[in-house]
Amino acid sequence: MRLSFVLPLSLLSIVCATPVFTHQEPLLDVAFNDGSMQQAPITIIDILSQSPDHQLLMRILQRTKLIPLLNILNNTAFFAPNDEAIQKQINGSSLSLWDETLWETNQGSGGRPDNIQYELRQHLLYHLIPLPEYNISQPRPPLKFPSSRPKAYFTMHYPGKPIQGPSPSPPPGSPWMPAPGGTLAKMAQKLRVIQKDGVSMTSVDWKGEGGVSLSLIAEGTNGEVWSSNQVLPLPPNLGVIAASRPSLQYLTSNLPDSLIQSFSTTVNSTLFLPTSSAFSALTELERGWLQSGVADEDWALILDAHRGQNVGPGVGWVGGLKDGESISGKAADNSDFIITREGDQVNVNGVPLDERDIYASNGVLHTVSTFLFPVERLALTPEKTLVALNATAFVRMLHRANLTHYINGSGASAGQNYTILAMRDDDIARPEDDPDEDDPDAPGNQNRTLAKRAAYHILSGKLRRDDLKDGMLVRTELREEGLSGNRQRLKVSLPGVGLTWGDARVIGEPIETSNVLIYFISHLLEPPPSSLQLATSRPHLSTFTTSLYSTKSDETLARTASTTLLAPVNDAWENTGLVGDWLLSGTKPARDDLLKTVHGHILADVLYTTDIKSEKPHQTLEGGLVGVGRLGKGNSIGVRVPDSNEEEGRMILREDSQNVGRDGLSRTGVVHEIDTLLVPKSVDVTLGKMAKGARAEVMIRLMAKAGFSWALDGVSPPLENTSLPFPFPSWTDDDDDDDEEPAQPPDVPYTLLLPTDSAFSSYNLSVLQSSPRALRRLVQQHLIPTINPPPSVLGGPPIALSDNAQYRTLLSNSFKYGSVWFESSGKTPSSRRTQPTKESGWVVRTRANKPARVLRWGRTSAAGGGVILIDRVMDPYELTWWERFGPPVVLGSVAGVLILLFWGGITFWWRRSGKSIGYEVLEGEED
Ligand SMILES: *[C@@H]1O[C@H](CO)[C@@H](O)[C@H](O)[C@H]1NC(C)=O
Ligand SMILES: *[C@@H]1O[C@H](CO)[C@@H](O)[C@H](O)[C@H]1NC(C)=O
Ligand SMILES: *[C@@H]1O[C@H](CO)[C@@H](O)[C@H](O)[C@H]1NC(C)=O
Ligand SMILES: *[C@@H]1O[C@H](CO)[C@@H](O)[C@H](O)[C@H]1NC(C)=O
Ligand SMILES: *[C@@H]1O[C@H](CO)[C@@H](O)[C@H](O)[C@H]1NC(C)=O
Ligand SMILES: *[C@@H]1O[C@H](CO)[C@@H](O)[C@H](O)[C@H]1NC(C)=O
Repeated sequence: MRLSFVLPLSLLSIVCATPVFTHQEPLLDVAFNDGSMQQAPITIIDILSQSPDHQLLMRILQRTKLIPLLNILNNTAFFAPNDEAIQKQINGSSLSLWDETLWETNQGSGGRPDNIQYELRQHLLYHLIPLPEYNISQPRPPLKFPSSRPKAYFTMHYPGKPIQGPSPSPPPGSPWMPAPGGTLAKMAQKLRVIQKDGVSMTSVDWKGEGGVSLSLIAEGTNGEVWSSNQVLPLPPNLGVIAASRPSLQYLTSNLPDSLIQSFSTTVNSTLFLPTSSAFSALTELERGWLQSGVADEDWALILDAHRGQNVGPGVGWVGGLKDGESISGKAADNSDFIITREGDQVNVNGVPLDERDIYASNGVLHTVSTFLFPVERLALTPEKTLVALNATAFVRMLHRANLTHYINGSGASAGQNYTILAMRDDDIARPEDDPDEDDPDAPGNQNRTLAKRAAYHILSGKLRRDDLKDGMLVRTELREEGLSGNRQRLKVSLPGVGLTWGDARVIGEPIETSNVLIYFISHLLEPPPSSLQLATSRPHLSTFTTSLYSTKSDETLARTASTTLLAPVNDAWENTGLVGDWLLSGTKPARDDLLKTVHGHILADVLYTTDIKSEKPHQTLEGGLVGVGRLGKGNSIGVRVPDSNEEEGRMILREDSQNVGRDGLSRTGVVHEIDTLLVPKSVDVTLGKMAKGARAEVMIRLMAKAGFSWALDGVSPPLENTSLPFPFPSWTDDDDDDDEEPAQPPDVPYTLLLPTDSAFSSYNLSVLQSSPRALRRLVQQHLIPTINPPPSVLGGPPIALSDNAQYRTLLSNSFKYGSVWFESSGKTPSSRRTQPTKESGWVVRTRANKPARVLRWGRTSAAGGGVILIDRVMDPYELTWWERFGPPVVLGSVAGVLILLFWGGITFWWRRSGKSIGYEVLEGEED
């Protein structure tokens, strides 16, 4: 009898427009749950339409075009949210989707919803649980609520399934039925039910907790309707779920953003996420590394071992597993995993699941408190160790400089050993600073400069303290263009027990990790500056650097790769005296000489002192050679211009200060300080040049006038009629100064006693110049032929000076008082290398004048000779009248007297003896 009712009314409900239906009085009474047998109910729709609490739901079902679906279902449980639930949903959500749909208003949720309200329809489908189909002749199988463990059912909601547009071919199956698809491997989302204390619940978690309580309204022929006073929440995606779980806090707060993103975007996912307690099993260094913010790769490694896709039926729900059953799958890192149920426990690879089956729109989430992969795979590489030891800024610098391969043993660095000089974040003063802007070979290219600086902290090989020697130059990984692509060096110092790299102290003990030895140093190192910058930074090289600039050699130096700069200290210039004065005098010819001299100090190869053995010639930029070699067994290194008359200089060793004179590393090579000026052979320093350098113009003029320009120019004297053989005959003491014929000067080097211009201030030069003889004698008085020049002494005088040293001058050729005498004045100079000073020096004088003070000297670059600058003119001695005529007069007088005496005596004797011998003088007779 009941059946006869059913079919027509079911048909009617399909055919009729249901809104009409709902507004009518209920045609039939419902069999309510209290058991009171009323008139038989028909369908779910019938039940809902008659329920006074579900009027809003009915309205929404119409709007979302779900009525036809409900009517074609054979057996379904519908968890129908009542009016209160819908009102709560409207109030509780900021999106007014429900509201708008309900009242067909557009309250600004953005654009017009599609005409079937797809999103809302999806949500409502989550409230429908398909039950087994049945034949109408049999009892309808109802929804079963287990009481001990919750039971999961598929709903009719397929999450992530895109809206299906109209298509020309008819859809498969009923147009109203939701077709499988979406992000749960095309399966529908699940919903759990349980009966607790007699209350039916749904949307509970895997333990049966939480959830929404249900009350049965009525059973119809095509299903049963349960009223809930809450809209069932749709499971969100895995990203949202993971972020909301406190036990995953460590993971989600340290996981890189891109990986967190992937939780939301991957589909068919099965996650076994490690909880915070899994991470607390790691060492502090390992955790420090993971928390560093740069451990993306290891996070990916961790994550990939803990997630799978398309596991089992597509999504790895474990709730349905029976005891002993298992599901196997592959993790994202391609390792296998197997999920088994043993009793009440579910294990994955033997690790028990903490929480299981947390539903999500794109998969399912389980948690584990032990990692599913061997922790050894997190093995701390040098990079991770550095980061874990608070050298993150340093590591970041290496990353930015694209040098990461040195600290993770990959690429070109694989299999190589390195020493890394790292800094802790506290010590790294200016980690993000831009390097110096004044980098000439990389204007504006900060990346390259950064890369260089970073590479300067990496050394080849593992350098333990025992391998190091003081002053050693170790090779870094910085390859400089300025060194022709060779490795830049770094100086090691071992002061006492400490260890210093460059100028940075080592802090603590080195740490060895795989192929790298890590030293922590006190501050960042700067790669060496250019040679020019280095030399300019040292005040005691200022004369040399000024000369570099004034001859524009700075550009040459900056342009030329792989050079050794032998930088003479200022004293070296000073010690050359008048030679330096000439070179620095600034005239055009002097600048030419200066350029050659400066270039003569730049060797065309890189010569670290450790590479210097016995003396070898090295080409200079000037074109000549400089010999560099070790002297004796000590640490002394000599430098000299081969075959010049200069003595060897030394490379300066200044060990007590950081700023040592040797092995100053530069971008283009190395700078050594030397204590001597190397005058190349191509620079011919003559007397005239030195005289010009001394600005002794008067003497130069007088010499030219007297015909002695040849001496200034350093050439042979002009041959005159009476050519003298060489070596010239020694002069005799008995010259005749009346001889006005000038003797031929010998062809030897000369030393010029050069009076300054002010020495002539008291002279009447025009009178002097009007007398050729006086002029010639004056010049001759100042020229000392230097046949045997003293052995070369650096900075020494051109002739050997000692107390009462007497030197013949050109004047001595014709005049016995032509010599000059030297005497020490004040203290005898302690070192003959230095130029004379006020306190210790020499005076020189002729027989005639007061002593002249020796001011300065310089040596020619030829075979010998030089210039001695004096402060007084050497006046030739003029004989006095007595000296000139005295001796003959005295001699004549003495001779005359003697003759007179003789004859007087003879006469006297004769007279006496004549009387006595027979000759008698007659008395009285006058004779
Ligand atoms: C419902 O049941 C009828 C007969 O009992 C059957 O023919 C029909 O296919 C079923 N409908 C669905 C949607 O399963
Ligand atoms: C998800 O699962 C479905 C059904 O197994 C499959 O067709 C689809 O390709 C899977 N998607 C991915 C990304 O694996
Ligand atoms: C790293 O720095 C942090 C904070 O400055 C400090 O708490 C931690 O102890 C440091 N770790 C090491 C290994 O120095
Ligand atoms: C980084 O270095 C590698 C080789 O080590 C090179 O192939 C790559 O081009 C470099 N990248 C940049 C941005 O310099
Ligand atoms: C690196 O150092 C290890 C010892 O620490 C040594 O056995 C190995 O030979 C070294 N490798 C190279 C390439 O020098
Ligand atoms: C440095 O390199 C990074 C990437 O390697 C680039 O984004 C940046 O613009 C570069 N900076 C300069 C100053 O070249």
